[in-house]
Amino acid sequence: MAIRPIVTWPDPVLKQRCTEVVAFDADLHQLLGDMAETMKDEGIGLAANQVGVALRVFVMDVPLGEGEHTGVLEIINPRIVKTKGEIRYEEGCLSFPGVNETVKRAAEVDLAYQDRHGVEHEVHASGLVAICIQHELDHLDGIVFLDRLSPLKRRIALRDYLRENREQIEEAQHRAKSKLRRSAAS
Ligand code: CO
Repeated sequence: MAIRPIVTWPDPVLKQRCTEVVAFDADLHQLLGDMAETMKDEGIGLAANQVGVALRVFVMDVPLGEGEHTGVLEIINPRIVKTKGEIRYEEGCLSFPGVNETVKRAAEVDLAYQDRHGVEHEVHASGLVAICIQHELDHLDGIVFLDRLSPLKRRIALRDYLRENREQIEEAQHRAKSKLRRSAAS
């Protein structure tokens, strides 16, 4: 297992709709292991496009209180089949370092998904687990948590983020461009 670099906004892969997983093979298992390792000590959820892989995969490990947590859950090709109620929670995102905003989501969800072997499962989730599921599933549709704010709040949050991270963003864009140039030349 290896730690992979986390992609930050405004990298285009975060705005991309990820594609369904069809091969439940060694490459997928490698990705899942790397994602769990990358998420560890950093966050409670991580979507594959946050490490630059546009597949419908996310991992999560959510605290349940009193030192308990869910353990690493691997979610592939997820679909929310039912929602109930409403909840507001102050969310953060590894792709938006330093940003926290209160987002409104469904309080409970029924989630259908496949595991690393392609076996279908369905779970009912509430509280922070339900919030995390919705945040990560949004990533797979190219939606980030700031897209769930009112247009004005979204604009302000994005402006502040871009202002505070200007140097890192320019550096990342420069790296992406020279990578493109290299692959075009080869
Ligand atoms: Co996120």
